[in-house]
Amino acid sequence: GLKKKEVNVLCLGLDNSGKTTIINQLKPSNAQAQDIVPTIGFSIEKFKTSSLSFTVFDMSGQGRYRNLWEHYYKEGQAIIFVIDSGDKLRMVVAKEELDTLLNHPDIKHRRIPLLFFANKMDLRDALSAVKVSQLLCLENIKDKPWHICASDAVKGEGLLEGVDWLQGNCI
Ligand code: GTP
Ligand code: MG
Repeated sequence: GLKKKEVNVLCLGLDNSGKTTIINQLKPSNAQAQDIVPTIGFSIEKFKTSSLSFTVFDMSGQGRYRNLWEHYYKEGQAIIFVIDSGDKLRMVVAKEELDTLLNHPDIKHRRIPLLFFANKMDLRDALSAVKVSQLLCLENIKDKPWHICASDAVKGEGLLEGVDWLQGNCI
């Protein structure tokens, strides 16, 4: 068959937002982990869609590891940024990390697609994707295609909508 186009994706966001849980759900079921633990440093994962083969850099979101993120920016051809919609207290920290990312010289002038997951939508007090998008000021991103989806990574809801969008924007 035809070889799928390969795309390097960076999966970023604060610790406990659900990055590893999301990526795990996107992997073929025989490759899925049963127990998800906080990521140390980063982990390289792979998943495929109908037309693309993604290599994901699943980065740790813990403060002490966030300085690793920038070393992979050059290689990233797309970004998945995950937010815990129930973590209102740290929404401002998520915004700071997003702003730092968007202003980085290896990201700033590149038209790379940004997919946001407003994750943990199942939590009783979760903010809506619209509200998360307002708090992160996503409408200010004018030079990159972006999209936000509400998701529940434990049940796997909302993930395919996001990945479909990503597939359509990785040209
Ligand atoms: P780091 O690797 O430390 O940066 O964290 P992470 O972003 O990879 O988070 P991880 O996937 O390890 O998930 C953290 C916790 O949130 C786990 O207990 C998950 O089961 C839980 N979790 C992930 N997604 C959801 C969700 O959509 N809803 C709920 N209720 N819990 C979730
Ligand atoms: Mg993780």
